[in-house]
Amino acid sequence: MNRKRVLVAYGSRHGATKGIADEIGRTLQADGLDTVVLPADTVTDVSGYDGVVLGGALYAGRWNGKARRCARRNAEQLRHRPVYLFSSGPVDSSAEQHDIPPVAGVARRMKELGAREHITFGGAMTAETPGPVGRSMVRHGKGGDFRNPARIQEWAHHIGTELGTTR
Ligand SMILES: Cc1cc2nc3c(=O)[nH]c(=O)nc-3n(C[C@H](O)[C@H](O)[C@H](O)COP(=O)(O)O)c2cc1C
Repeated sequence: MNRKRVLVAYGSRHGATKGIADEIGRTLQADGLDTVVLPADTVTDVSGYDGVVLGGALYAGRWNGKARRCARRNAEQLRHRPVYLFSSGPVDSSAEQHDIPPVAGVARRMKELGAREHITFGGAMTAETPGPVGRSMVRHGKGGDFRNPARIQEWAHHIGTELGTTR
């Protein structure tokens, strides 16, 4: 049987969302799917994939522009395959405590694409984050890495199960 091909695309400014995408990619690959992880701005054709996971960092209530443009650019093809969206995310434990719905722009994209699901993962902003914002947040007692590998893997396993058994 042919292995299902999955694309995991991400729009990341400082690397936290890329880390989540890599974790999803590793999990899907280990689950037996043929998985490719790519920056969202490089994705111009998704016709070769049986499913697509697209994620973006949140900045001031908006999804990362590279993720937004990827969704728009590939909308026609995305509408015809299973799509899963994710956002990263609150730099606190709120994403662990309750489901955080998609911001308005992402909710619109979900509808346009007929996306199956959206999830918000905790994000990261640490002293190692390039640029002054991370260092400043840490100086003010904020920031930290709130990505939870177990929760990310759980979601990826669920996608793997769906894609591995459908279409
Ligand atoms: C200026 C700024 C604005 C942010 N705005 C939001 C926001 O509106 N909602 C949210 O959940 N997280 C917000 N964050 C946190 C980021 O989304 C989080 O750090 C994310 O994991 C960064 O991903 P990246 O490293 O892939 O760019 C903000 C962070 C910064 C520095």
